[in-house]
Parts: sequence; C-alpha cells; structure tokens
Amino acid sequence: MSKLIVNGGKRLSGRLKLQGAKNSVLPVLAATILCNNACEIHNCPSLSDVETSLKILSHLGALCTKEEDVVTVNPENIDSFEIPDSLMREMRSSIVFLGAILGRMKRAVISSPGGCELGPRPIDLHLLSLEKLGAIIREDHGFLYCEAPNGLKGTEINLSFPSVGATENIILAAATAEGKTVIHNAAKEPEVSDLADFLNSAGAKICGSGSDTIEIHGVKQLHGVNHTIIPDRIAAATYMAAAAITGGEIELENVMPSHLISVLSVFKEAGCTVLVDGKKISLRAASQLSRVPTVRTIVYPGFPTDAGPILIAMLSHAKGTSVFVENIFENRYKYTEELKRLGAKIKTEGKVAVIEGVEKFSAANCECTDLRGGAALVIAALAAEGETKISKIEHILRGYDDIAGNLRKLGADIKVV
Ligand code: UD1
Repeated sequence: MSKLIVNGGKRLSGRLKLQGAKNSVLPVLAATILCNNACEIHNCPSLSDVETSLKILSHLGALCTKEEDVVTVNPENIDSFEIPDSLMREMRSSIVFLGAILGRMKRAVISSPGGCELGPRPIDLHLLSLEKLGAIIREDHGFLYCEAPNGLKGTEINLSFPSVGATENIILAAATAEGKTVIHNAAKEPEVSDLADFLNSAGAKICGSGSDTIEIHGVKQLHGVNHTIIPDRIAAATYMAAAAITGGEIELENVMPSHLISVLSVFKEAGCTVLVDGKKISLRAASQLSRVPTVRTIVYPGFPTDAGPILIAMLSHAKGTSVFVENIFENRYKYTEELKRLGAKIKTEGKVAVIEGVEKFSAANCECTDLRGGAALVIAALAAEGETKISKIEHILRGYDDIAGNLRKLGADIKVV
C-alpha cells in the first residue's frame, strides 16, 4: 500500500499547468460508446478512475489506448452491455455508463453502485429518468437489469434535485433516442456542458447546457470526434490552497477562471491576492490567512461541495473562526477527524463545521477517508512541522494526476513510498 510522506513547513512557489477535469473525462469516456467510430480525447488526466473507465470500455468491446494525455477509444466493435461488479465497485461514478450503454445497446446490466464514503448516494433520479425515457428496470440481488425493447423515446423530465450524474445520464440516453427530451431543473455544472459539447461535436443536437433547461433532439447516430477536456476546477482550488497555507504563491496555467468565481472569492476573503489573466490565475498568500464569512456548499455556480474539504484544511490555519455548511452530501466530514490529528480544531454537527484557526499544525500519521478529504490532509501536512505519513492514498489517486510531482515542482518535500 502506497503512502505519502510530507515534510511540511516549506513555502511553495512556482507555476503549474492544470490537469483536465476528472468529473468531465468520466462522462465523456462513457459518451464514446454512442459514437460509431474512433474518438480522441485530449487533456485527459492520468487517474485511477480513468483507468477503470478504460477497463469498462475495453470489457464492452472498445479498443482503447492512452499516450501521455491523449486517450483514443474506438467503440466500433462494442458488443457487450454488462459492466462486471468488480469494475462497478472500483468507481461509483460508473453509473454514468448506464445511459450510454442503454442508448447504444438498448439494454444494460450493472451492479448497483450502493453507498460511498460521502454517505448514502441514491440513484433514484437516474433510474426514474431512464424509465421515463422508456427503459424497463428491474433490481435483483444488487444488480440492475435495464431494457428498452422498443428503443428510448424523448420526453419531459423534471428533476426534483439538479443532480449532476442524473443530468449526464439523461443526456447520454436521450442523445440517440427518438424525438425530443427536455430536462427541467438540470444541473448547470461546467462538466455537464463539456459532455454536451463533446456530444454536439459528434453530431448530437443538445441545447441549453449550462442553464437549468436542457433540450436534446435525438439523432440517429454519432460519429467519432476529437475533444479537449476542460480544466479541473477542484484541482485548481487544491493547488491554490496548498500555496496559500504555506504563505506561498502560485501561477496556474490552463485554468477556466469563470468556473471558479465562488471559490476565488473565498481565497480573497481569506486575504490572498488573486489575479486573473485569460486562462491563468495567480495567487499570492496573505502573510496571515484570516477567517472568512460562512461558506455554504451549493450547486453550480455556488460554492462546490468538492472544494469544501480543501478550503476547510486551509482555514484551519487562518486567524479566527470560520463556519462551513455542507448542503449536498450527508456525511462529508469524516476526514475532519484525521485533520484533527495534525492539530486542526474543527467541530462538526450535521451539516455544519466550525473551524477554529490554529497557529501551528504538527506532523502525525493519518489516513485518507475519501478523495477530497485526502487532498485536505495533504494541504494541512504541507504546513505541519515534521514528517506526516498519509496512508490509503488510493483515494487521492482517483482524482489527482501526479499530486506529489506537482507539489514538488512548487518546492514541497513530498514523496510517494
Ligand atoms: C458529481 C461529482 C461529484 C460532486 C457532485 C456534486 C462526478 C463523477 N462526481 O457527483 O464529485 O461532488 O457531482 O457536485 O461528476 N441524489 C439523489 N438521487 C440521485 C442522484 C443524486 O438523491 O439519483 C442526491 C445525492 O444524494 C446528493 C445530491 O443529489 O445529495 C448531489 O448528487 P449529484 O449531483 O448526483 O452528484 P454526483 O453526480 O454523484
């Protein structure tokens, strides 16, 4: 089992090119299933979740290659409609393959993704929506058997919550369905728009992505396409917090600043100087970070739930007390127990976390409980005196492309052992 060893206390400084977005590349890889010839995906990060997605595509019959940050998927010979249980368990977001497999094969068998480290993550909205499009779904002994014997047919869908994954699954299923589908109360996250952009360049007719009403006019078939994945806004927040907590500075290249407005305002409130220049963001830390007004996680364009742990780690080292309210996931604060080992003072109750800034962190052994919680530990460890050992880093490797190498480029003393 790999561990991260961090010798904290080094001021970070330098420039980084940001990775492509994990939450974009996974649905885009699923979307290649709907195309009838090869697709080339650029700016594809090297992540274990990407490897799992490629294993799923290969299992279905696609030919996949990855060279540097370019993934090629040739889906011509896809002939299977089942995702093995072992691959479903590796990655909860493999649920997004359901809409694409149903769209192409008119049937799909997957195991139910179940709960995860952030608490219960139901898929009722995914299933109800696919049923509205004409799928017949049966759950049996942890497996989902889905069929659309008469094909999928366009319809109106009102989501009771603007779920990112459900919106993506509907778009995937509706892209080649018969007729028009309208999604009301759709998710507006940039990763949903990236998926729609990929599909539109492949010949789909999707409009309104980025707004809460998305219209999909089903087309008969989609062709292969070259597509570049958008930058990862959560990785951007992570590297900025790493620089800020060490009193350092960073210039990030290949960023989409408009995707980060709610996050940048928290960095500014904490006293950092943030400058935006086209696709670059530079951040210079305050000599002393300060508390911020209450932060509430909410759907895009509000403050993203995935950036919560990262900013909570940073604010644990600020002057004064900050409050976070987590409105998206029920059980997102597990990692705070591990942050406390490094000296953080955080109290949580239900949705609320009260973060009392401390002057010093000190090294400790700690364990990742989930992807972004793991990133929070890395950020705190960079500011802790002494050697911190972080275990269960497989969580971190799901979402960060060479986090240790990138932080070393900025001057951190960090290695994977
Ligand atoms: C995606 C992101 C994840 C991010 C989240 C919120 C990917 C791979 N993951 O996850 O990193 O934290 O968006 O921005 O893109 N819900 C239901 N029923 C459903 C679906 C969701 O009740 O059928 C609830 C969930 O329990 C949760 C909320 O809706 O409380 C948000 O979930 P959703 O937007 O679907 O997140 P994901 O797509 O799972």
